[in-house]
Amino acid sequence: MNDHPIIQWTEAGEARSARWRSESGAVPPKRVVIADDRMTADAAFRLASEGSALLWRGDFQNARQLLQAMARRADRKPRKSAGSPLDAFNLYRQAQSQRARTLGMLLLPFDAGYRIPLRRAPDVSQACIEVYGPDDGPFVASMRELLGVIGAHEWRKKGVEVPVLGARIHPHYGVFSPVRGEYVDLVATAPLPSTKLAFDIGTGTGVLAAVLARRGIERVVATDQDARALACARENMTRLGLTEQVDVVQADLFPEGRASLIVCNPPWVPARPSSPLEYAVYDPDGRMLRGFLNGLAAHLEPGGEGWLILSDFAEHLGLRPRAELLAAFDAAGLKVIGKMDIRPRHPRASDPGDPLHAARAAETTSLWRLAAR
Ligand SMILES: C[S@@+](CC[C@H](N)C(=O)[O-])C[C@H]1O[C@@H](n2cnc3c(N)ncnc32)[C@H](O)[C@@H]1O
Repeated sequence: MNDHPIIQWTEAGEARSARWRSESGAVPPKRVVIADDRMTADAAFRLASEGSALLWRGDFQNARQLLQAMARRADRKPRKSAGSPLDAFNLYRQAQSQRARTLGMLLLPFDAGYRIPLRRAPDVSQACIEVYGPDDGPFVASMRELLGVIGAHEWRKKGVEVPVLGARIHPHYGVFSPVRGEYVDLVATAPLPSTKLAFDIGTGTGVLAAVLARRGIERVVATDQDARALACARENMTRLGLTEQVDVVQADLFPEGRASLIVCNPPWVPARPSSPLEYAVYDPDGRMLRGFLNGLAAHLEPGGEGWLILSDFAEHLGLRPRAELLAAFDAAGLKVIGKMDIRPRHPRASDPGDPLHAARAAETTSLWRLAAR
């Protein structure tokens, strides 16, 4: 853990420093001031907007409330009006990263054992171990990051109900969660080309591998590149009693060999992620999508099918025209043998106040059934 950057500040006339943790990859703030319960939300918001971090020495619960008050101020900022859907999307992302930067300026000290040396601080040790690993000494991180760590711990404990499995899937921190489960229903109902062997490329929590196994596929090989996803998928297979049927392996896209069914739900927005935690949604240059399509024919058994799950959100934003997707199928030697569509059920799709409302309201997720030409 020596590769942590260091954050430095002056406190009571003394130069101080600590290791800095940020799972979203934020660099340690350069200016740090000490803050406590006397700090008003207006002052905190102004300092944070100007790039000064506030290292909290007051009451933990007050810091939590202060962050909420800062968030309300961030959300009050007037929105710039956008022309095209793509402009709206770029402005939206810009505003989101500005918001994340500002709210990430409220910092907490952590002592050894993931203890927070503040009044009314909760015990966060288990939540921290799940994300950061075994304790390795004091550090500083943002309150916003800690709230994410605590939230992830709660979801991991509680799980997400997946009706077609009749069971819950337990997502880990940073692993794509099937909360918006429409795409799972597509995989649960598309006609199976064979029940022998399937690959699930980029398995995340393992949800699609589990659905395929429960549908009677004798053996499923599920891949991912991300260590957290691999650990999460393995834990879910154990919980579901599917370890005999589903192998979870680390691979860049495909495992060795060929299968008669290959499923992939790649990140659906071809744009650069603004933090490592966004890799499940943003696929820079469409790398995973293209890699999957270009390798598919060589990994399919004769008569096999590739199921690509893809939202057309990027099409509505003007980021990837439909013609480009169809051309990519063609260039990879694939033909479309069927397509099933489903509309999102998530609440933001019907919120006209959302700056991306038009694209969200028009969004359809499809399961493209592809075969080698
Ligand atoms: C949108 S998530 C889908 C997760 C899961 N299949 C589901 O449907 O809920 C995409 C997943 O692909 C994984 N991934 C990204 N690039 C990959 C690659 N080159 N090889 C394998 N997995 C990859 C990510 O780590 C992530 O877990």
